[in-house]
Formats: sequence, structure tokens, C-alpha cells
Amino acid sequence: MLESVLAKERMPTVDAVEPAEGRRGFIWSRCRCLFFVLVLGAVLFVCSMDFEEMKPDWNPTWLTSFKKLNLISSLTDSRDSRTSSSALRRTDNITSTKVTNTSNTLHRTSNSSEAPQQKPEPPTPVPYQSPGPYLVEYPYEYHFVINEPTTCEQQKPFLVLMVPVAPHNRAHRDVIRSTWGGESLVLGNVVKLFFLLGLQTGEGAEQLQEQLLQESKEHRDLIQSDFLDCYKNLTIKTMVMLEWLDSHCSGASYAMKIDSDMFLNLSNLIRMLLNAPKTNYMTGLVARGGAVLRDTTSKWYVPEELYSNSHYPPYALGLGYVLSLDLPKKLVEASRHVKPIYIEDVFLGFCMQHMGIDPTNPPNGYSFNVFPVQYSRCAYSGLVATTTHAHADRVKNWEDFKKPGPYC
Ligand SMILES: *[C@@H]1O[C@H](CO)[C@@H](O)[C@H](O)[C@H]1NC(C)=O
Ligand SMILES: *[C@@H]1O[C@H](CO)[C@@H](O)[C@H](O)[C@H]1NC(C)=O
Ligand SMILES: *[C@@H]1O[C@H](CO)[C@@H](O)[C@H](O)[C@H]1NC(C)=O
Ligand SMILES: *[C@@H]1O[C@H](CO)[C@@H](O)[C@H](O)[C@H]1NC(C)=O
Ligand SMILES: *[C@@H]1O[C@H](CO)[C@@H](O)[C@H](O)[C@H]1NC(C)=O
Repeated sequence: MLESVLAKERMPTVDAVEPAEGRRGFIWSRCRCLFFVLVLGAVLFVCSMDFEEMKPDWNPTWLTSFKKLNLISSLTDSRDSRTSSSALRRTDNITSTKVTNTSNTLHRTSNSSEAPQQKPEPPTPVPYQSPGPYLVEYPYEYHFVINEPTTCEQQKPFLVLMVPVAPHNRAHRDVIRSTWGGESLVLGNVVKLFFLLGLQTGEGAEQLQEQLLQESKEHRDLIQSDFLDCYKNLTIKTMVMLEWLDSHCSGASYAMKIDSDMFLNLSNLIRMLLNAPKTNYMTGLVARGGAVLRDTTSKWYVPEELYSNSHYPPYALGLGYVLSLDLPKKLVEASRHVKPIYIEDVFLGFCMQHMGIDPTNPPNGYSFNVFPVQYSRCAYSGLVATTTHAHADRVKNWEDFKKPGPYC
């Protein structure tokens, strides 16, 4: 590209000097000078260019092509390698970027002067190998499109609440912000809330992205990564969340992943955590001996070829689970050795099993509820988390719950 630009610039100038015989020498030297300046300018331009920054902020088709290229290598050679994609992820420090054999064309290797050769080539048509309907594209290096990289460092929360939610679901986010998600200091402990989003594609995607940027400016609580946001990709969302916690929030004591349709009694949760183990701790509604569903019409169908055992290892149900903050790093590392099954909580169960850590049961059987507990001040004062009925007015219930007076 550079050469053709130079050639174009040069040709007319040389032609132009033809008729003026006498001035040829002068013009020719001026021309050479100009050419030199041009080349110098071009070289400086190329050298100063940051190829990482040349990437569009988010461009699904463009990124997807690379993803597909990379997926093959990440499935074949990096699955068992000890490379953590979160370690590879933020490559601002050129010299410390030790990209091992993940053959990622987007990455700069150890020598910045190689950058021009590392320039992203137009994706060559390498056949895309789908991980299949029951596995997800992970490990893979996703990028944050919206991020809050320093909030944890600045506010030093004791507990971080991570809520996966679809990009378009502003209503759920607003309900959470105006109910339990709005509490920032509970029994003297700082609590911080973040929402986790993937990308939405299709009609209106660009407009939605604009709205998200606006919402992010307003609330500073959105974390968005560049995988496609859909139910089948929840495992990716969870793993991106763990990578994020490890790199941006490892100073916090605990994190809770909680679904957006839940009710949370934060004081009860904090009280529970103040007496909880500080490491290797994962709790929630722990399923033990959970059956693998073989009915092909089930939402959670898993074929025998993928997992032949009839029962899953213990896992905390995805509606809401709590982790000590040493676990995200360990889980990300363990995930390199486990098939990336699409059921996110089961996947973490496999990772915990790989690590030889048993999820902890909560102090009592009513703490975490998968079946919606009907709202009453008394009932909600005794639990930590419960799913809510779709038709329940969560804001109204919250206002009632926050009124002073006895609960029971
Ligand atoms: C880059 O990383 C190296 C090794 O980790 C460190 O010594 C150096 O200070 C870092 N440089 C910058 C600019 O962060
Ligand atoms: C990368 O892979 C090549 C062969 O594919 C091997 O020769 C080389 O030692 C590997 N390098 C590292 C750093 O693992
Ligand atoms: C980078 O490349 C230059 C020239 O090719 C070489 O002199 C230099 O030692 C290299 N630096 C590193 C860190 O490899
Ligand atoms: C999951 O996300 C990946 C990465 O963005 C994408 O390639 C894939 O198509 C998504 N899966 C589904 C089922 O949409
Ligand atoms: C949770 O319930 C307790 C009663 O056990 C109550 O004192 C507290 O205010 C509730 N906290 C929140 C944040 O809802």
C-alpha cells in the first residue's frame, strides 16, 4: 500500500519536469528532496502507528474472522498449554508480552520493530471449526468494549456483585440499580455492582451500542466484552467475568455472580461472608449428584459423547454464587483443561473438580432459593438470595422491605 502511494505521488512530478530542460536539474533535486521527505514521513508514520489501536472498537464481522482463525489454534494447541488468555490479554507493555505458541496474529511479539510485519492481514479463508452446539469458544481472547478498569482499585470493595444481563435489557439493570444494587455500604463494607454484557448483533445493534455507551457514562457500571451475547454463550460470559475479576478486582474479598431476576438481601450475605473462609471458597445453592439431562429437547441437554457420566460433580447453581477472590485466577487456569461445556454453572463445577475443591454449602438451607420465594418482609429478611416471580413488582416490594419496623 505504501509503495503504491509513493509511486503515485512520484510519477506526475517526474513527468512534469520533462519539458523544462534547463530547470530539470534544479527541479529534479527538489523532487528528490520532496521524495525523501515523503519517505521519511511515511516511515515515521508507520513507526508511530499503534497497530493494536488500529483495531476498530468493535466490529463483529472483522473480529469474528480472526476469532475463527484463532479458535483452531486455541482448540488444538493451547487447550493444554498453561497460557492464560488473561495474561496475554493486555499487551500495553510490549517487552513483557511473551506470546507463546497461540499463533495469534493480532499480537505483538517481543520486538516492537516487528510491528509492521504484524499488521493484521486480511483474514485468509481458513475453514471455521465450530466447537459444536454444546461447547463454546473458550479459551479465547475476548476484548473489552466497555470497561471499568480502575473502579475496584479506587473503591476497594469488600464484595463485588456481577450481574450478567443482555445488552438490550436496560429495564432489568434499572430495577437492580434502584433496589439491592443501589446499596454501596452494607454493615460498614463497601459493595460494588457491575453488569456483564456481550455484543448484540443484527438490526439496531449500532444504535443500542450508542445507548450503552451513554448508560455507561451515566452509571459507570457496565463491563462489555466482544463475544456474541446469547444464552448458549453464558459460559463465555462467566469466564470473561472471572478474567475481569482477576485482572481488575483481585483486591476485593468476595464476588457474587447473581442473575438479574433475583432478590438479594445484602446484609445477610455480608454477615455470612464475614464468617466465611477467605480462600478456595465457593458457595451458593450447591447441587450434588445432579443428573445429566439426556432428553434432547431439554434446555440443558448434554450428549453422552460429550460427557458419559450420568451425574455432574458438585456445582453451585448459576442463579447466584459467591467466590473468594483467589478463585477467579485458579478457575481460569483450570478451565484450560476442561471441555468448555455451554452450561456455565456445570462448567465451573468441572473446573472446581479439576482443582479438587468442593463447593461449600451455605450455613442454612433457605439462604439461596431457586424456586421463587413469595415476597413478605418476614420471608425476605431470612434469606440471602431468591429468584423472583416474573410478574412481581420488585421495586415496590423493595420499598416495602426497606421500611422501618419489625420484619416478622
Ligand atoms: C514492562 O515489563 C517489564 C517486565 O515485566 C518491566 O520491567 C517494565 O518496567 C515494564 N515497562 C512498562 C513501560 O510498563
Ligand atoms: C513453539 O512451537 C514450536 C513448534 O510449533 C516449537 O519449536 C517452539 O519451541 C515453541 N515455542 C515455545 C516458546 O513454546
Ligand atoms: C529487536 O530487533 C532489533 C533489530 O532487529 C534488534 O537489534 C534488537 O535486539 C531486538 N530487540 C529485542 C528485544 O529482541
Ligand atoms: C458465541 O460467541 C462467539 C464469539 O463471539 C460466536 O462466534 C458464536 O457464534 C456465539 N455462539 C452463538 C450460539 O451465537
Ligand atoms: C436483610 O434482612 C435483615 C434481617 O435479617 C435486615 O435486617 C436487613 O435490613 C436486610 N437487608 C437488606 C439489604 O435487604
